[in-house]
Amino acid sequence: VARFPSLSTAGNAVPASIFARLREHLATFEGDVIPLQIGDTHLAPPAALTDVAWTDPADLYAYGAPGGWGPLVEALVAKARVKNGIAVTAAGVQIAVGGTHALSCAVQALCDRGEELVLLTPHWPLIKGIALAHSVVPVEVPFAGEIPVTPRTAAIYVATPNNPDGAMLSAEARARIVETARRDDLWILSDEVYEDYGYDAEHVSLATLAPERTITVFSFAKSYAQAGLRVGYALGPDAAIGAIRKLVNHSVYNVPVAMQRAALAALVGGDAFLAAARTRYRAARDRARSRLVAPAELPPGGAYLWVDFSRWSPDCMPVLEKIAAAGVLLAPGWAFGDACGSHARLCFTGVVEDRLDEGIDRINRVLAAL
Ligand SMILES: Cc1ncc(COP(=O)(O)O)c(C=O)c1O
Repeated sequence: VARFPSLSTAGNAVPASIFARLREHLATFEGDVIPLQIGDTHLAPPAALTDVAWTDPADLYAYGAPGGWGPLVEALVAKARVKNGIAVTAAGVQIAVGGTHALSCAVQALCDRGEELVLLTPHWPLIKGIALAHSVVPVEVPFAGEIPVTPRTAAIYVATPNNPDGAMLSAEARARIVETARRDDLWILSDEVYEDYGYDAEHVSLATLAPERTITVFSFAKSYAQAGLRVGYALGPDAAIGAIRKLVNHSVYNVPVAMQRAALAALVGGDAFLAAARTRYRAARDRARSRLVAPAELPPGGAYLWVDFSRWSPDCMPVLEKIAAAGVLLAPGWAFGDACGSHARLCFTGVVEDRLDEGIDRINRVLAAL
């Protein structure tokens, strides 16, 4: 059967950048653009980063171990036990190219083609494309509601604290997820990249309740302001992590060891950074919430306000296009779930406070003129 020039179903199904349409409107703005759309940070990573021995030739030019650089893996075994209450050995740790890669390999390891991955929604946008890339069917269900299960369901994905709305699972919600997963023999894919940024509640890892079936993903990008280094990791039962390790091995071979050295430096010397960043982000959250005229609940964790534009338009896009024309970018709600199109996500950690104020003032002026 002739294939060329058709692409695969998965190659076509994965969505392109969600910002393309807004960038056209941004092009009409001549002043300084304020990027509130991306989950970034304006903070510099922990100072220990500058002490990293980047120039060790063995690290820079030789292949590394597919599972991860030994000293980082050992440090994460200890971190998992002490900070998360998750008991793993090195066999239950896998270093990946950011949380994104860890999640992609985990979906591939846990779900077969045509099986369903339940997404507690609103959800981090890339998880849907990751499912589609592996020919897995994403099924959006409300974050705090019942979890419908079909014979095709393989796993439940949840982020806590959540991106985009900062929601954190309550004890009841954690128990409900675990009960459903145990009853129907499902995997749990717990995205905990924002573990360090819970402001109003304590972060609890789902794996403490169901270690036998939970893969937990963390990221140095979020915890330690090292997004560009692309280091994340997955923890879980040895057999599942073993499968994820094979998929990491067959996609990138190993994560660059130089980057893992920088991650270890942050982990070892970064406690003061985490405390300071949490205080600063919390203040930015409060500041953004009180300045913005549009409705948004105060998020208990994370890095974003989940803004409700339904008072102005059932579809956020016409409003976001006007906001883009005023030099501010927000992330459109439809990327976070099919039923989320009246909302948009505003990141309060990506720019310093006076720029955040200026961005919000511009949004307020656009809304006042509608
Ligand atoms: C909920 C969530 N999971 C995973 C990731 C991916 O993290 P990384 O940058 O380490 O790939 C992000 C990044 O924004 C995120 O918000």
